[in-house]
Amino acid sequence: MKYKDKYIIANWKSNVQTITEAEEIINKGLELGDKVAHYTVSAPFIYPLSAKYSPVIGSQSVSQYEGGSHTGLYTAQQTKNAGATFTLLGHSEERARGMSDADINLSIENALKQDLYVCLCIGERVRETSEIEIKKQIDESLNGLEEELNTNKIMLAYEPVWAIGSGALRPATDSEIIETVNFIKNYIKTQFNLNEETKIICLYGGSVDSTNIENILNLETVDGILIGRASSDLSEWSKVVDTLK
Ligand code: 13P
Repeated sequence: MKYKDKYIIANWKSNVQTITEAEEIINKGLELGDKVAHYTVSAPFIYPLSAKYSPVIGSQSVSQYEGGSHTGLYTAQQTKNAGATFTLLGHSEERARGMSDADINLSIENALKQDLYVCLCIGERVRETSEIEIKKQIDESLNGLEEELNTNKIMLAYEPVWAIGSGALRPATDSEIIETVNFIKNYIKTQFNLNEETKIICLYGGSVDSTNIENILNLETVDGILIGRASSDLSEWSKVVDTLK
């Protein structure tokens, strides 16, 4: 039971193109059972699968709007009613398409109103300005959410942009991960004056696969993994799952 306190979130992004493939991948992940604290999938198409696999399925985002004329956006209420239990928010690929911290702040509020758990992604574009970039993201996207942070309905994921996706420079090193995850936890606790007993949960994401997942999960301060490419390819995903079982 090495990883029973660790969270695993699979972010398929725009990959996994058929329901058959999706179900194979989800079912492989279900083999994790109680070997991990939680296994969830951020699916791109929540509607056909979320009710069937609840509470495993979440979404990759929810809109900053509660409804209206916003083609291409899903509301938090639609996401909840489809059977999803959580949502990612603030992913760097969404930020790169123009989602601001103010939008993310509204989306978090909408998600929490619908009782969805939130995994807020934060991370710097440039390593050298890490703390400045992260402080701004935290200050603006979590603005006014002190009470909600105390209820543990918001978890964080540290995802350095330079370590994510096929254009990644390199995975972050152990010391970079430890240093930044600790920074994020301490900064949020003091900046929002949280209760002593509140535990900030912070995952790591960026170029994680079957060869390095155990090493990263074994870093004590890291509460889990947000895994991209390796979670949407059945063969690599099977290796990841078998490594953790
Ligand atoms: P990769 O694992 O593909 O680098 O992506 C990480 C990520 O963005 C997860 O949200």
